[in-house]
Amino acid sequence: MATTATHFIITSLLIVISLDFTFGGVGVCFGRLGNNLPSVQTTIALYKKYNIRSMRLYDPHPPTLRALAGTGIRLMLGIPNDRLRPLANCPDAATTWVRTNILTYPNVTFRYISVGNEVDPDSDPGRFVLPAMQNIYRAIRAARVGGRIRVSTSIKTDLLERSYPPQAGEFKCSVNWYIRPIVEFLRDTRAPLLANVYPYFAYINDRRNINLSYALLQPNSGVVAGGVYYDNLYYAILDAVEAAMDRILAASPSLFSDQKQSAGSSRAAGSETGWPSSTGGTTALDDGDVNTVENARIYNNNLMRIVKSGTPRRPGRRRRLETYIFAMFDENLKPGPAYERHFGIFSPDARPKYPLRFR
Ligand SMILES: *[C@@H]1O[C@H](CO)[C@@H](O)[C@H](O)[C@H]1NC(C)=O
Ligand SMILES: *[C@@H]1O[C@H](CO)[C@@H](O)[C@H](O)[C@H]1NC(C)=O
Repeated sequence: MATTATHFIITSLLIVISLDFTFGGVGVCFGRLGNNLPSVQTTIALYKKYNIRSMRLYDPHPPTLRALAGTGIRLMLGIPNDRLRPLANCPDAATTWVRTNILTYPNVTFRYISVGNEVDPDSDPGRFVLPAMQNIYRAIRAARVGGRIRVSTSIKTDLLERSYPPQAGEFKCSVNWYIRPIVEFLRDTRAPLLANVYPYFAYINDRRNINLSYALLQPNSGVVAGGVYYDNLYYAILDAVEAAMDRILAASPSLFSDQKQSAGSSRAAGSETGWPSSTGGTTALDDGDVNTVENARIYNNNLMRIVKSGTPRRPGRRRRLETYIFAMFDENLKPGPAYERHFGIFSPDARPKYPLRFR
């Protein structure tokens, strides 16, 4: 077992060409949990019309994949949590998955495969995430498309025990068994950890200590955290995730000691972020002044601005951040609190809720 794993890692390192593995820019999640959404064709036309150049799709929905062909829209494709078990247990299932959902669409620009979304480590799919990632990775390598497509998983930031100050970021001890091998796998395959980064939730869970304008990423509303100036909460959360990854890798050197790839170079990319434009009538939260169209407009427009530079942990323009706005449309069948059904940047009738310029 150990020998196989080692062999696998060495082979991977030799073949994967080192490159900057995040692509940068702001995409939009195409969540489809609605019964009043525009057609796939109308949706893709909206992506093109508004210059949205990346999409996150939560499952390999054939009509959407067909409609994406030839558009050049970069795709983050998800594998739903309840599909992970066979992919983890059988390499052949992963080969078939890749053939059916990737190779069938040679004209779709796949960038990421997100193996699971916000998997709770203690839930049933928890133990399947890493082996499914490994099998999917091997399958895309065997199909010779591994150079273009990164295999990762998308986490919820509640896996963090500590996120403030960001450089003290640390995963919960209780999820160490889960996250450590994933972070090592991502290091060895040069892929970023995908994180759903929501200043909105941080704010509503801790209003006393977080300034709304800091959560809305407003210019000049920063804080000094651990001696470092943070001018917005998005950077702070992302840096906390990377600091937590670094903490793992510092205690787990790469097989190749000359690799500058271990501690200090972890990468996280945003796979979801957003701000609801309505409470949907919830009163419990007392958030009528928070969940507004105006705040959603401010948040998402500020996001466009802040992704252009690196975070305080990794300053410099070379690193344009990558993130995906949640979501394209309000999804009227999305479960959970009422505001969950109001994250769309477009109404179901395909009209933008507020001006938002993608560039
Ligand atoms: C992909 O695009 C090429 C060039 O436009 C075309 O010839 C080919 O049929 C397309 N393949 C599929 C499967 O759509
Ligand atoms: C929040 O930050 C803004 C911008 O720095 C500032 O004007 C405002 O007074 C702050 N609000 C609170 C409650 O601290």
